[in-house]
Amino acid sequence: MDQRASLQDFEATVYGDAGRSVLYDSGRPRYVLRASMFERSDLDVLFERVRTLRALDRAAVATRLANHRVLLLFGQPSTRTSESFAAAAHRLGAHPRVVSNLDATSFSKGESVEDAAQVFASFYDAVVVRHPDPSFVTRLAFGLYRGPRNRPLISAGSGTVAHPTQALLDGFTLQDNWPDGIDGKRIAIIGDAGRNRTARSLASLLTRYRGVTVDFVCPPSHAVQPAFVASLRDRGLTINVHETLGPFLRAHGKALDALYVTRLQQEWDAIPSGVLGADGDFVLHPHFAELLTPDCRILHPLPRVNELPPSWDQHPGFLVWEQVHNGMWVRAALLDWMVRDPA
Ligand code: NCD
Repeated sequence: MDQRASLQDFEATVYGDAGRSVLYDSGRPRYVLRASMFERSDLDVLFERVRTLRALDRAAVATRLANHRVLLLFGQPSTRTSESFAAAAHRLGAHPRVVSNLDATSFSKGESVEDAAQVFASFYDAVVVRHPDPSFVTRLAFGLYRGPRNRPLISAGSGTVAHPTQALLDGFTLQDNWPDGIDGKRIAIIGDAGRNRTARSLASLLTRYRGVTVDFVCPPSHAVQPAFVASLRDRGLTINVHETLGPFLRAHGKALDALYVTRLQQEWDAIPSGVLGADGDFVLHPHFAELLTPDCRILHPLPRVNELPPSWDQHPGFLVWEQVHNGMWVRAALLDWMVRDPA
């Protein structure tokens, strides 16, 4: 695609079948905008890079991105994602800077996102961005692509649409915990999957594995959009849709390899309701443990509210703190892959 392409052409390309030509540069990711941009071979490379990086001693890791600067632009609340990107950059010897008050930047004076991209590219070697408007990250990528300084960009969560690095760390955590990998597994995604970007990004990533079944267990008011379900089926996932949690677990609990529990995304509600379905309907009650096998893996992207009571932390398959820890290493491996000069 020509550097003079319009934003519409750019968007159609990066979210379409030809996305790879722009999203990758010589086999390395350049703009991480969506989980579905990663093919199985890319995931295998990234996950291997995570293991290699993790096995190096601290001093060796700390030289990999020495003298590099990474901008973390966070236009939405974040604890784990911003802290793990900052920790990842520090580990690699880079300097992260977090900007979380976008009202204090020139955006408030009307600067375009595309111009801001070139400004950031003058001072930073990579940009990580979270924003409630999904077009924001696309426009940043577009501004980088068409300008003289083309720096790597990573979405750290865009609107309700995508959270690719959460999907990568979830995929890594699952793969790392199953000696025989993700192929053939059955995973239930529970909660507000209609709006939870982590839930749908994970489902997209799972299409890269063979023979995977995903059960979406969501109240009808927060169900996954039928067009998205159809696209997952087209990409090879077996999908079942359920509307109640207790009956689903009673019928299928012992057949499940993992549960991915999510919270109600009430920040998108004009009038927050506070609960998902009728009160308690989508809470993983402690007594549901008897409906699962002890080694059923329990994941949650965090933050949790009431849907995954703390007694689950004692369940043998509880992986939530491992997800958090892996998040730092997956993000470090991704930054290292994207930013470091391949010598
Ligand atoms: C998620 C997010 O921001 O989408 N948090 C995270 O990054 N781990 C999930 C959520 O907020 O529910």
